[in-house]
Amino acid sequence: MDWGMKNRMGRIFKEDGHSVMLALDHGYFLGPVSRLEDPQKTIEPLIPYVDSLMLTRGILRNCINAKYNIPVILRASGGNSILDEDLSREAITLSLQEAVRLNACAVALSIYVGAPHQHQTLVNLASLINEAENYGIPVLAVTAVGKELEKRDAKYLSLACRIAAELGARAVKTYYCEDFHKIVESCPVPVVIAGGPKMKSELDVLEIAYNAIARGAKGVDMGRNIWQSRWPKAMASAIRSIVHEKASYKKASELFESLKDKEK
Ligand code: 5RP
Repeated sequence: MDWGMKNRMGRIFKEDGHSVMLALDHGYFLGPVSRLEDPQKTIEPLIPYVDSLMLTRGILRNCINAKYNIPVILRASGGNSILDEDLSREAITLSLQEAVRLNACAVALSIYVGAPHQHQTLVNLASLINEAENYGIPVLAVTAVGKELEKRDAKYLSLACRIAAELGARAVKTYYCEDFHKIVESCPVPVVIAGGPKMKSELDVLEIAYNAIARGAKGVDMGRNIWQSRWPKAMASAIRSIVHEKASYKKASELFESLKDKEK
């Protein structure tokens, strides 16, 4: 691995090899989702608690002050909206020159394995990687399921993660599921988990984060279950304790409960 690639990977995955990424890219197909109507207001208070921000160039440019020394992972695919029946029809939406201009530490792109536009999204991934490797920029592949949340099982996600790694993704973002260890064991690059739609209880989120790390995930790239919580800072801290401090589910839950009382 060349110096630039190593350095960027090391800025995202810290000394312990783990990472807390804050996912904020939802607007690229969902528009102004709840709590991201005013992105700056939601994002800025969370910056001290996370290792990187995953977002679109539009939100980065317009809503994040360039004074922050936080690695950014730029979304590089899109072209659809929640109004589409089939969300898999995506194209590459970001050039590598732009990623460099915006000082991106990585770029992220969704693949839709088994969906009507599977081929297009896999070729998108390969093309982005071909370009990004020239600049030493890692590509994070996102194993998207669109509206078919029930697809999230180990057999399907292992297939999607492995294909992403085979095509050259430097890291893969997927979902936690039963038999999660099978996904990690058959994927030769770091795997991080998304949170998915907001869960009923914050403690459920901490449980899946704990289980994912215990079964080999290298971190999380979570959004709604952090910033749609009534206590986003407490959530980010508790998740951080699991990812970086080897906190047990019990310890992380206690930390969350204690911090939640202090958060306005
Ligand atoms: C959409 C994404 C999102 O970043 C991802 O879903 C993570 O956010 P959340 O934890 O809210 O699911 O990549 O394809």
